[in-house]
Amino acid sequence: MRRTVRFTLNGERVEAQVAPHETLVEVLRDAFGLYGARESCGQGLCGCCTIVVDGTAVSGCLYLATLADGANVQTVEEGSELDAVQEAFIERAAFQCGFCTPGFVLMTRQLLAEHPDPSEEEIRHYLSGNLCRCATYPEIIEAVQLAARKRR
Ligand code: FES
Ligand code: FES
Repeated sequence: MRRTVRFTLNGERVEAQVAPHETLVEVLRDAFGLYGARESCGQGLCGCCTIVVDGTAVSGCLYLATLADGANVQTVEEGSELDAVQEAFIERAAFQCGFCTPGFVLMTRQLLAEHPDPSEEEIRHYLSGNLCRCATYPEIIEAVQLAARKRR
């Protein structure tokens, strides 16, 4: 049986009818047309489905949509302009196919909020839950470092 879930999505109050088994990434894509978060592994291992719920990054493939009731949900689509992290990823060409990029962008924002001047080791550790099948890791590290400088 479906139930109504109400939450804030990228600054706007929204509601959706969701089934108990539906995940947040499924609802964001199917009900709201937000395709930044992608399901890849479906097991919480790759970071492609990263969504921020009440300020914490979660694996959208494991997070049941019903749990988002009353929450503040943010996706990579939030805002009409690129932020420093997105600019840095573009400037450093830190992607090839781009499938993993929204997850990396959201996790990088979280990283820089907690560690404004991260070491390379901290970057690697913090982003270790995000996988890039195109192996653009060197460029991603550079992009994170550039984003940190841009935000100072
Ligand atoms: S699809 Fe969710 S972590 Fe891989
Ligand atoms: S750019 Fe292709 S998976 Fe990361």
